[in-house]
Amino acid sequence: MIYAVIMGYGTIGSGVAEILERDKDRIAAGAGQEIQLKYVLDLRDFPDSPVADKIIHDFQTIEEDSQVKLVVETMGGLKPSYSFVKACLNAGKHVVTSNKALVAAHGTELLALAKEKKVNFFFEASVGGGIPIIRTLYRCLLGEEIQEITGILNGTTNYILTKMDKEGSLFDDALKEAQALGYAEQNPEADVEGYDTCRKIAILSAMVTGKEVNYEDIYTEGITRITDMDFRYAQKLNASVKLFGTSRIDGPVVHAWVAPVMIGKDHPLYGVSDVYNGILVKSRMLGISMYYGSGAGKLPTASAVVADLIEAAQNEAYHVPLGWNSERLSVADMGSFSSRYFVRIAGDVSQRADQVEALFGAGEVVVLDGADEFAFITPRMREADFKEKAIALDIPWQKEGKQGILQIIRAEL
Ligand code: HSE
Repeated sequence: MIYAVIMGYGTIGSGVAEILERDKDRIAAGAGQEIQLKYVLDLRDFPDSPVADKIIHDFQTIEEDSQVKLVVETMGGLKPSYSFVKACLNAGKHVVTSNKALVAAHGTELLALAKEKKVNFFFEASVGGGIPIIRTLYRCLLGEEIQEITGILNGTTNYILTKMDKEGSLFDDALKEAQALGYAEQNPEADVEGYDTCRKIAILSAMVTGKEVNYEDIYTEGITRITDMDFRYAQKLNASVKLFGTSRIDGPVVHAWVAPVMIGKDHPLYGVSDVYNGILVKSRMLGISMYYGSGAGKLPTASAVVADLIEAAQNEAYHVPLGWNSERLSVADMGSFSSRYFVRIAGDVSQRADQVEALFGAGEVVVLDGADEFAFITPRMREADFKEKAIALDIPWQKEGKQGILQIIRAEL
């Protein structure tokens, strides 16, 4: 038998406790020994919960209990999770976490500490909820050279964008629904501004390059500026708008970014809707492979945590090598990234389209009935060149007091 504790009895932590009890025989068979939940650390009491008699409020109890070998961290945030996790690893305990903020900010140090102490630091649930992507990278694709990872990595924003696309919902209403369903972060700004996706693509980039990634180096744009008008154009183009986290590895040049992207129906990630996440991996031998499933929510995320617990119990006496080292990855400037761009422009198409096309080159003009604006989809170009041209277009209009560019979305059409 091996003793486990859960730190943080929120959505995910309570899911883990539920599964450990409900599926204890199956888990014991997989782990080779019974995993017994000893304590649940939380600030709050849960007198009506199944773990009422296991609740403790004092971290020291865990740190000092040498029987406790497995620690689940589902508190989220950095304080106090970072110091608690570090103390647990230092005390020779295996740690399993769902906390992407922790892994993105302190993963390098915690991985090195786990190695030094011959324990494990697993974080499958930190990216893609229940989708097995971390283990896929360090186990199944071990022989591969990964060239790209592009993912819809945030369930909340995917839920919002799907509602806006399919039902014409308003942004705020869709966000409230996602919150009620337990998908959103405590501060939903982390979802809608793309910060959560940024942490996740930073972790995936570090996994595939073996180098530390500073998430602050990743260009990050959220979905708060996406409107119903954008979706009207998207519908006309048989397209949709999704929030992507991308890492493209081209030899020494790595582009990593988070942004909304307009994608057509033939894009492999087009069908990833609602709270689901989808992760596309391009690798040299396998080519494209896709990983799809529930990216948030209590039991899907608990599924990934429990898998990590089983792997830790199986390797009670060993350190399983995975992750990255302290060499810092140099993330290339967005200016050198190439894309097509969907640009909405105010005014009459008959007066402005020629000027737009003369500047950007042959693209596609899209007109909506009754709208005092039109859209233009540029040919593929470097982002720095696109920005230069966009400014050259917009500034003269602004000087004349006229509206110019209304929206810019990267496009894969
Ligand atoms: N808020 C996150 C999401 C939770 O919506 O995907 C899972 O990381």
